[in-house]
Amino acid sequence: MPKMTIADLAPSALRGRRALVRVDFNVPLDGSRVTDDTRITAALPTLNGLVKGGAKVVLLSHLGRPKGAPEAKYSLAPVAARLTELATFPVHFLGETIGDAAVAATHALANGSVLLLENTRFLAGEEKNDDALATELARLGDFYVNDAFGTAHRAHASTEGVARHLKPAVAGLLMQKELDYLGDALDNPKRPFVAILGGSKISGKIDVIEALLPKVDALLVGGAMACTFYRAMGLETGKSLVETDRVAMAQALIDKAGSVLIVPHDATVAPSIDAAAKAHAVKKNEIPANEAMLDIGPETAASFARAIASAKTVVWNGPMGVFEKPPLDAGTLAVAKAMAAATKKGVTTIVGGGDSAAAVTQFGLDGDMSHVSTGGGASLEFLEGKVLPGVAILDERT
Ligand code: 3PG
Repeated sequence: MPKMTIADLAPSALRGRRALVRVDFNVPLDGSRVTDDTRITAALPTLNGLVKGGAKVVLLSHLGRPKGAPEAKYSLAPVAARLTELATFPVHFLGETIGDAAVAATHALANGSVLLLENTRFLAGEEKNDDALATELARLGDFYVNDAFGTAHRAHASTEGVARHLKPAVAGLLMQKELDYLGDALDNPKRPFVAILGGSKISGKIDVIEALLPKVDALLVGGAMACTFYRAMGLETGKSLVETDRVAMAQALIDKAGSVLIVPHDATVAPSIDAAAKAHAVKKNEIPANEAMLDIGPETAASFARAIASAKTVVWNGPMGVFEKPPLDAGTLAVAKAMAAATKKGVTTIVGGGDSAAAVTQFGLDGDMSHVSTGGGASLEFLEGKVLPGVAILDERT
């Protein structure tokens, strides 16, 4: 059942009313400077919509992983400064999250202006989803909006608990976009549907492989996790990262998947990441004992690019190699370029958050995808078919 969104609210439900909006402003900082404002920009359509409707907009977010008490380096003050630069509406910041002063500040807001409160993880009850804290948070608004897709896999007081106490509880426009793209890909993909999974560890990807196998036409595996599959196939993996305790599981996945699961047929290897200049390509059964697979090989990159070109829906999560270190970025770049070209031809291309989103941004190709998710862990859990608590609690559209 689709969730209600801010677009479903009547004008009278917005004007002069306090919208308590959970955003995911967990952004990277260099001291007091935001180094990647993607998540802030991504929340602007929701904020602009509420501002235009004359709401008093109160923002909650976490930043980093403080342990339930204030820590200056995790203050949202630098985020407020960046939001002020990006916004066309007035932005205020309060160094508190709850309490009478915070509640008074929400009431004092002018219609169409925004107040960012301090980091929710400075509060001991946040990650415990403490009901008393959720009740306290509910005092900060007249209705609740969750636009924090990136944190929707966490059942915390500001993402889940508060929505039990504050109604209506609706999705923001970013949340809706994420759910639409990822949901359509899983439930209603145009075929062929190709998934590309990479990253270093198979252990974090087993659930998503299991969930995607019955849905996709091809599942292409890259990254160091390919080596755990190689080991299951009895191949020499040299100094490559292999999760020895997952080899049996990799074997079981190979048996179950049949021809749907495709491992790289060549690999780019080097003695170490630091010796990237010595990188060279070998067939998958020729990995030298004293070298490690650090990227998919050029033949594999070309065949993955062909698979992407012939697909109608592509979902990608996890880099193909050490993309931060050229020339070990070649496989990841080839996948990103093939997806960008496919997008232009009408293919639906979706990049899961986290490292693969960082890679397409590094290549300057993020604007060339149908959708780049703002959620790392959240998009992975969604693709695993898990219920995201921050979504489940929102009101359904009737
Ligand atoms: C993220 O960056 O993935 C989200 O903001 C969630 O952060 P967390 O993993 O610290 O809960």
